[in-house]
Amino acid sequence: MRILYLGDIVGEETIKVLKNNLDTIKKDYKINMVLANAENVTSGKGLSEKHYKELKSLGIAGMSMGNHTFSKSEIKNYIDDATICRPANLGSKYGKDVLYVKYNDKTIAIVNLLGRVYTNTPLDCPFKTMDRLLPTIKADHIIVDFHGDATSEKKAFFYDFAGKVDAVVGSHTHTQTADEEVYNNTCFISDMGMNGPYDSILGDDINEVIERFRSGMFEKLSVAKCEYYKINGVILDLGINNKITRLNLKIKV
Ligand SMILES: [Fe+2]
Ligand SMILES: [Fe+2]
Repeated sequence: MRILYLGDIVGEETIKVLKNNLDTIKKDYKINMVLANAENVTSGKGLSEKHYKELKSLGIAGMSMGNHTFSKSEIKNYIDDATICRPANLGSKYGKDVLYVKYNDKTIAIVNLLGRVYTNTPLDCPFKTMDRLLPTIKADHIIVDFHGDATSEKKAFFYDFAGKVDAVVGSHTHTQTADEEVYNNTCFISDMGMNGPYDSILGDDINEVIERFRSGMFEKLSVAKCEYYKINGVILDLGINNKITRLNLKIKV
């Protein structure tokens, strides 16, 4: 089966861009199922219930999160019943460690983990969390969204779990890497990239980010508005011989 996994979706405007383009992309690339990282949808941080429902209505079957999972606290009210997995090593009583989604007779398990390098969050070890979860998972395919800063940590996780899961796909940096590979039939990429405003700094307004660096003052940033959007993700062909292909499109609104 062929899965499109979209990198971090940034800003609510991007929902509209996906609404206008996702069906065509699915048709063009013969996609069976769409998954996405949804930690940055609502004003760039978190995911409101309204936006979750809108993404669901576009046919996004499963969503993983990251360090901004609980940035919109209303998620606590709906995450338990939603097709969302939050980082399993976050130790939260809200949400699930493993999300199961179905496509025909196949079951796909999605696990979301947060890296510990540079993330400044008290977290359980992502490696040992996966050791604990792996024997409990019953699925035809397992995909891990490893949400973190350090490529070394993501790659170490990939080699550690190669042959045991179908794919380890990175998120969080909002910058697509060109290091996709398959080892022991496990697909890998350090980062899938982002879906959001093209002329931006990781999705945020260019001038505001420059000012933050120049002034050293941490004023609130806003999601950029621009004419072009990028669609970043990976296409995972999961079967006997797993395969990963990068998707990187520039789309006019
Ligand atoms: Fe992000
Ligand atoms: Fe993040």
